[in-house]
Amino acid sequence: MKRAAGLLLFMLAPVVAFAYPNGTQQYVTDTGPFCASCHSVVRAEYMPELPSDMARREVAEIKHYGLVRMPSPPSPYMELANEEKEELIRKAKLIDANSSVTLSVPEKLKAGQEATVTVKARGGNGPVICVMLVDGASRFQARPVSSNGWLIAGAPEVRGQDGKTQSVWLDKRAEGAAKNLNFITIFDQKFDLEKKLFPEGTVTYRVKAPSAPGTYKMAAAFLYGTENASASSFFQRPSGRILFSSEVTIVVE
Ligand code: HEC
Repeated sequence: MKRAAGLLLFMLAPVVAFAYPNGTQQYVTDTGPFCASCHSVVRAEYMPELPSDMARREVAEIKHYGLVRMPSPPSPYMELANEEKEELIRKAKLIDANSSVTLSVPEKLKAGQEATVTVKARGGNGPVICVMLVDGASRFQARPVSSNGWLIAGAPEVRGQDGKTQSVWLDKRAEGAAKNLNFITIFDQKFDLEKKLFPEGTVTYRVKAPSAPGTYKMAAAFLYGTENASASSFFQRPSGRILFSSEVTIVVE
């Protein structure tokens, strides 16, 4: 029994070490913000379908700082002194205050017309950040924009914190697999809170508007962290975040 448990831990260890935090290195595919179940959300309004107390439990104040301050198990922060806990919260709040994401997209398009959609994200503490192009600012129900007919036409252009294009994420795709990805991880992010140096990136998508005329919504989801990645290697910490851009309405004629 003991051996079996040891073996299980051995098998799980690499997964834990590689998958969370530092983003999700292997999920080089389209997904939705629901996947980041451990992350806290920036606003309870992202879950209008939930009872309000349930939605409130997802915000950082409760999900993250509540656990940091919790004096008993299952808090993964128990080894910290009270001052250290408050310092961690102070820093996380500063990171949140400096984190933002914007979405630029034409508000009127013809059915099937090609257009450029730009997502600019800044914030978190690195070493990576993620963005996704979704059909609304919904924490559990947002879908990739392709779900209602927006085609991502070709590999998006990804620019990192240094402003230079990078292909690290797209290069991880298996040989021959299409690179018109929606979910993008942006690498090489430096962070220095005192110097106000925050992770940053821009993803420019070429899209084709849906073939069915109508009114569509679009938003960008931004996933980032607020704790030191090495300190938060204990993967259950709710120190990750989900933030959405404002929702944009697009009329397709
Ligand atoms: C098991 C819990 C868990 C799940 C599930 C999870 N994350 Fe995270 N994520 C974390 C933790 C912990 C961090 C570290 C946050 C920090 O630095 O404070 C993190 C951080 C991140 C970061 C910022 C990088 C960093 O290290 O700070 C990104 C981007 C991210 N996650 C993306 C995702 C995506 C995309 C998914 C779904 C495919 C996902 N996460 C699912 C726990 C999780």
